[in-house]
This record gives sequence, structure tokens and C-alpha cells, in this order.
Amino acid sequence: MAKKEVRILDKKFSEFISEIDIQNRIDEIADQINKDYEGREVFFLGVLNGSFMFAADLFRRITIDARISFIKLASYVGTSSSGEIKELIGWNEDLKNKSVIIVEDIVDTGVTLEHTVNNLIIRNVKDIRIAALLLKPDAYTKDIKIDYLGFSIPNDFVVGYGLDYDGFGRNVPSIYKLVK
Ligand code: IMP
Repeated sequence: MAKKEVRILDKKFSEFISEIDIQNRIDEIADQINKDYEGREVFFLGVLNGSFMFAADLFRRITIDARISFIKLASYVGTSSSGEIKELIGWNEDLKNKSVIIVEDIVDTGVTLEHTVNNLIIRNVKDIRIAALLLKPDAYTKDIKIDYLGFSIPNDFVVGYGLDYDGFGRNVPSIYKLVK
């Protein structure tokens, strides 16, 4: 049984999306991707750190021909976005003419997503779709469509399932939200 509340550093978090609900939703997203890309090849591009768990669980359900690689970006300090993207691991794949699915843990303002999309456009990829486990619609400032979305959530800080609070909490298998 998952704990109803967890403490991470100085903050308390309460259970918000259970492990089973996350896994069921990923089943549905993977089924949809397998259908949409049937007979084609797809290149998954995960955005580290937060997406590693979602990317792994999604990728193991993919049955079409697929590759995966990761870039590492950071924009968050503590519990809010700095608005500035730091690129920590760069782009070392030739993505020209590839169908790419960007894999994001969470889309908040969308600054990180826009940065990634723009980087793919200049690499002359064939097409781009976005898979994100979570979206905060009230914080989202961009009009890039999220093609495969796990859950829309309120504008609250969340941890678990790859998402962190100052580096901690990523190992919790369900998603918890900050108790204010
Ligand atoms: P954006 O650029 O504002 O969309 O922020 C995206 C990145 O910020 C995500 O990939 C996460 O790393 C981080 N982030 C945004 N919201 C949260 C949250 O609620 N908890 C933990 N990390 C978050």
C-alpha cells in the first residue's frame, strides 16, 4: 500500500495519482502510439532528468521499430521554474528525416518543451509529436499541442515517479502533491 503522505526534505506531500493509475494510462498511450506509427520507425527523445521513469515504462510497451536517446535540460530551482534553460547533456544523434516523439515528465510553462521543439526543427526532423505524462494547463504559456498526454493537473508542485523536489522524491512510484 502506498503511503497517503510522504515527507521530502522540509515539505509534506499527499498522494495524488496512484501507481496503478499511472501504469494504466501509460498502457493506453503506448497502444495509441503503436497504432499511430504502425509500419513506421520512431525515435523517442527523453528529456532528463524527470522523464527517465516515464520514458522507460512507455518504451518497454512500444512494439513498433523504435530507438531512444536522451537530452538533459534543467530549468527548475526548488519548487519553481527559473524560466531559463540550462543544457546539461547535448544533442549527439543524427535526427534528420526522423519521426521524433519528445518524452517529457511534466509540462509546466512549456519553456523547456518549446526549447526542445525548436532544437528539433533546426535539425530537419521529419515530424515531431509530444508525449507528456503531466500537463499544468493553468501554467502553460505555449500553443504546442501535447499529442499523448497522461494527466492534466492543477498548478501545484508534484513529486514522485521521476519528478523531484531538490533532487529527492524521484524514486516514489506514485505521484504526490505538495501540502500547502
Ligand atoms: P517548464 O519549462 O516550465 O514547462 O518546466 C518543465 C520542467 O520543470 C519539467 O521537465 C520538470 O523538470 C520541472 N517541473 C515542472 N513542474 C514541476 C513539478 O510540479 N514538480 C517537479 N518538477 C517540475
